[in-house]
Amino acid sequence: MSIDIASSKFKANPYPFYARLRADEPVYRITLADKQPAWLITRYDDVAATLKDERFIKDRLKALTPEQVAKQPWMPRAFQPLARNMLEVDPPDHTRLRALVQKAFTPRLVEQMRERIETLTGELLDVVVRRGQMDLIHDYALPVPTTIIAEMLGVPVKDRHKFHRWSSAILMASASSWWGTMKIIPHGLAFLRYIRKLVIKRRADPRDDLLTALVQAEEAGQQLSEDELVAMVFLLLLAGHETTVNLIGNGMLALLQNRDQLDRLCRDPALIKPAIEELLRYDSPVETATERRACEDVTVAGVTIPRGELVMAVIASANRDERQFDNPDKLDITREPNKHLSFGLGTHYCLGAPLARLEGQIAVNSLLRRIGDVRLAVAPESLRWRRGLVVRGLLALPVAFSKQGVQPKRVLGLLRFGPKTPHWNKSASPAGGRPQGVAADRG
Ligand code: HEM
Repeated sequence: MSIDIASSKFKANPYPFYARLRADEPVYRITLADKQPAWLITRYDDVAATLKDERFIKDRLKALTPEQVAKQPWMPRAFQPLARNMLEVDPPDHTRLRALVQKAFTPRLVEQMRERIETLTGELLDVVVRRGQMDLIHDYALPVPTTIIAEMLGVPVKDRHKFHRWSSAILMASASSWWGTMKIIPHGLAFLRYIRKLVIKRRADPRDDLLTALVQAEEAGQQLSEDELVAMVFLLLLAGHETTVNLIGNGMLALLQNRDQLDRLCRDPALIKPAIEELLRYDSPVETATERRACEDVTVAGVTIPRGELVMAVIASANRDERQFDNPDKLDITREPNKHLSFGLGTHYCLGAPLARLEGQIAVNSLLRRIGDVRLAVAPESLRWRRGLVVRGLLALPVAFSKQGVQPKRVLGLLRFGPKTPHWNKSASPAGGRPQGVAADRG
C-alpha cells in the first residue's frame, strides 16, 4: 500500500487507516518518504509493550548492521550535537541527562506557574475578544506554551516566533525526501547558532533560570557536555511547545465539533481535568512516538521485526483501540477510566506532562469562560493540517464569536500583545497572511 503518513492529507483523518491496521495487520511494514522501511505498531497493548521494551533502542550505531549504516539517509555533520538530547539516547546517558532537569518539571513546581499561565491566557484573550474572530492556533494555542517554556528556560519571549519557525520546519520535514532534508538545513543551523549564543550570554551573565542552571552544570564538568547542553535546550524548547499547541488546538476543534461536550464543560468547568485527559486521548497531539530501532530481531504480535529496522509506536491508534476503550471514536469528557498513552510510557515518558496538563486545563477553561459562544468560522473540511511524522496539529483554526469590550485594567495586556487582523482575512498567500508575533509555518 502506498501511503504517505506524514502528508497533510493523511493527517486530516488518519483514524480509518489505523482502524484497518488494528483489525488486519497490527504490525505493518511501510516505506517512508525518505525510502526507509518502518514498522507501524497500532494496537494498544503492543504500543505499550513496545514503548517499555528495552530491545527497542535509540542508539542507531548499536542497533544497525554495517550494511544498514551505509543505507542511512544523509544528515549534515553540524546537526550531530542535537542528537545528544535525552529523547535520542538510551540509559545510562539518558538517566544522567533527565536527572538534571527532572526537578523543574515536577507537578508541585509546575503548579506554582498556575497564576502566570492564567494571566497570560487572560492577556491573549483581551487582544481578541473585541474582534469577534481569531485564528485559535496563532492567536492563542501557540503563544501560551511558547511563552511559558521560553520564560522557564530564560529564552527571550520576543524570540518565540524564531524558535517556533525553526522547530516547525524541522518537524514538518521529518521522514521527507532528500530535498526535504536539504530545506531544513538553514533552519537547523540557525537554531544551533541561536542556542550557542544564548549559552555564551548566560556564562557571562548568570540569572535565575533553567538555562543558567544547565550552563552551571556543564561548567561543573562530568554531568553535561557542551553538545549535550545545546541539545537539551533544543529539546526543551521544541517539546515544550510543539506538542501543547496541538493539545489546545486539536482539543478545541474536537469540542467545537461535539457541541454537547463543549456546552457541558461550559456549564461545569470542574470537569476540566477529565476533559483534558479525554482530549489528549481523542486527538493525540503526538501521533506516533519518536523513532526506535530493534537491537535484535524482536517479535511483536507474531511478526518478527529484524534487527536495525525502524519501529513506530502509533499512540493515536492505541488511544482509539476498541480493545482498550469503550466506544473509542466518541468524545466523552467524563470518560473513566482513561489510560491513554498520549505522554508515552517507560524510559522516555514525557517529562513535561504536568506542565502540559496545567497549560491545557487553564487555556481551555479560560477561553470557554470568556467566549462561550465560540464556533468554527470555516467548514471543517477546509482546515489544513501540518505535515510531519510525529506530531499532529492544525496550521490554523479560524473561529468566530460575539464581540466584547475589554475591562480597563486589561488594557495593559493589549499594549503588550497588540491587536491584529486574523490572517484569513488578509492576503490569500501564506506569508501575507502571517499574524504578527508568531511565525509562519503554514507552508
Ligand atoms: C500535550 C503536550 C505534550 C504531549 C502530548 C507530549 C508527549 C510526549 C511523548 C509521547 C513523549 C515520549 C516520546 C517517545 O517516547 O518517543 C514525550 C517526551 C518528552 N516530552 Fe513531552 N509532551 C507534551 C508536552 C511537553 C512539554 C510541555 C514539555 C516541556 C519541556 C515536554 C518535554 C518532553 C521531554 C523532555 C521528553 C523526553 C523525555 C525523555 O526522553 O525522557 N513535553 N512527550
